[in-house]
Amino acid sequence: MQQNLRIPGPTPIPPRVAEALARPMINHRGPEFAAILARVTERLQRFFQTSQPVLGFPASGSGAMEAAIVNCFSPGDPVLAVSIGVFGNRLASVAQTFGLAVTRMDVSWGQAADPEAVAARLAALPTVKGVLLTHNETSTGVTNDLAALAAAIRRARPDALIVVDAVSSLGCVDLRMDDWDLDVVFTASQKGWMVPPGLAMIAASPRAWAAVERATLPRFYWDFRAVKKSLDKGQTPYTPPVNVYFGLDVALDMMLAEGRDTIFARHQRVADLTRARARALGLTLFADPAHASNTVTAINVPDGVDGKALTKALREREGVIVGGGQDRLEGTIIRIGHLGYVHEPDITSCMDALERQLAALGHRVPVPAAES
Ligand SMILES: Cc1ncc(COP(=O)(O)O)c(C=O)c1O
Repeated sequence: MQQNLRIPGPTPIPPRVAEALARPMINHRGPEFAAILARVTERLQRFFQTSQPVLGFPASGSGAMEAAIVNCFSPGDPVLAVSIGVFGNRLASVAQTFGLAVTRMDVSWGQAADPEAVAARLAALPTVKGVLLTHNETSTGVTNDLAALAAAIRRARPDALIVVDAVSSLGCVDLRMDDWDLDVVFTASQKGWMVPPGLAMIAASPRAWAAVERATLPRFYWDFRAVKKSLDKGQTPYTPPVNVYFGLDVALDMMLAEGRDTIFARHQRVADLTRARARALGLTLFADPAHASNTVTAINVPDGVDGKALTKALREREGVIVGGGQDRLEGTIIRIGHLGYVHEPDITSCMDALERQLAALGHRVPVPAAES
């Protein structure tokens, strides 16, 4: 049975990228890799929409979280962590682990952060050094209005570092690092980039680079300066995930051929289709519709249906792999990933399978009231 991988990362790999991944190994300190690294970096900048170098670490997204914290802050630095779900909580925990003075602002799950409420919170934190944000909260299917949040934060605290987890948004939805004056932005290869896990990508603004010099948290592997110094020589300080770079080189060719805005429009279309099909099945969506994500849709498991039985039936009977709920949402939602290499037929077949398996588990689609 062919698998329809509809979790919100790792995501499916296009055949051209899969071929590139299987290329013979090369010297990671030779000219061939230097050329790939230069091409990949320059093209990643177009998606980050920044003139700053995009640094690569052999890591998952959580590694980038740690890199952001240890490079920019010192023990005791006050930061505001705005959390709208599991991954916002994780970033706050990383900051806490490294001894930052973290003020947590927890937004109800399913909702986005309100820029004015964040600004009001900052008014009470005059010495705050940074604000930690999640662009797209993969656990709840909510996308924050990052432009509005960044503008409100800048007005309240012009020098604060704005740190953005863009793990499940970059490459799929608009994120303008320089225009929106964001300071640290990171993503990971297994999400919207159509390549396997293994590469975390992170960029820092001039304000953040200045903070890197002042910050006193210890760092070795994660030191931005080491990566930047090597990048200038066409290398990485440690052995890079060479095959992920082979794949990303081809994936970025495909992404630029499609066009940035066309990619964003495709993500909007597949997200709209997912939401429309869910509603037509009589299901309700977990996220506030005004902030529903274009990369992942969280659907409430209907009353009378066992969420775990549903994901199992989809996997075993249909070859459709969807995500379950995380943390306190376990068993109560399913999450459908639609990011990276995804087109309408992938969603149609996923939702057809969902319809069949819900019916098999006894869910009845409510009949709309007749118009009088
Ligand atoms: C928004 C967000 N941040 C961080 C992470 C953590 O990334 P990783 O699992 O690659 O460490 C994820 C992973 O799903 C994510 O979706």
